[in-house]
Amino acid sequence: MTRICFVCLGNICRSPLAEGIFNHLAAQAGRGPEFHVESAGLGSWHVGEAPDSRAQRVAQAHGVALDSRAQQFRAKDFERFDLVLALDDDIYGGLLELAPSPAARAKVRYLRDYDPLAGPDREVPDPYYGNQRLFEHVYALIESACRGLLDELSTGR
Ligand code: 4NP
Repeated sequence: MTRICFVCLGNICRSPLAEGIFNHLAAQAGRGPEFHVESAGLGSWHVGEAPDSRAQRVAQAHGVALDSRAQQFRAKDFERFDLVLALDDDIYGGLLELAPSPAARAKVRYLRDYDPLAGPDREVPDPYYGNQRLFEHVYALIESACRGLLDELSTGR
């Protein structure tokens, strides 16, 4: 069982999409039981909330259900996961600061590290103040990276 946590800022836009998309792809591949997947935010403003309606809309358009509730990522959560995947540079830096040990720091990666199509830019842009078109773009970036992540976790590369 590989335990994965996707982390963004508010846990209502990007990381719930990553959680929903990864679970969808894993289930389609018949590999759901191999993974425990959660998402979280570094911020606490939206704790307990369902995903943003714009994230829900874009997910629904792709046949993906989002059923997470926002939670804040805390230092002790590093114990519960094998991979802690950051959605942008600020989150990556914040997670490294929060990590209580070298072992915890070693679990932090960018989600887009797993996207074979990604260039040097590792960020999934924050869509919170954007429009539905930005949510579509964010969806495509996350889906591509989640496909790469699923592949990588099966070949053990
Ligand atoms: P997320 O988007 O980090 O992708 O969930 C955001 C959600 C809320 C805020 C910022 C980003 N906010 O400032 O409340």
